[in-house]
Amino acid sequence: MVLIPLGAVFTVAGCGSPFIPYSAGRVDATVAGPATVPEPQQPLASHTESFRLQGFNETEMITLVACVHTLGQVGQLDVL
Ligand SMILES: *[C@@H]1O[C@H](CO)[C@@H](O)[C@H](O)[C@H]1NC(C)=O
Repeated sequence: MVLIPLGAVFTVAGCGSPFIPYSAGRVDATVAGPATVPEPQQPLASHTESFRLQGFNETEMITLVACVHTLGQVGQLDVL
């Protein structure tokens, strides 16, 4: 399951872009993340505002979240 993100790294490099540092797997967190991490029970408006404060619009927020969750799922399957 590391093949999708690894393929993305080589695809970007193959297009002449800078090499993206890559390491397989992940280090599991041992403590809770900062309070600024969006929680699933929070309303959409608070997520939108949180991303807006970081310079992202709604389209970019959706793109980032969908991409992160896709790669995150791949990461979780690596552990199994
Ligand atoms: C969001 O920002 C991107 C540029 O980063 C832009 O292309 C896109 O049109 C914007 N979307 C909206 C809904 O403003």
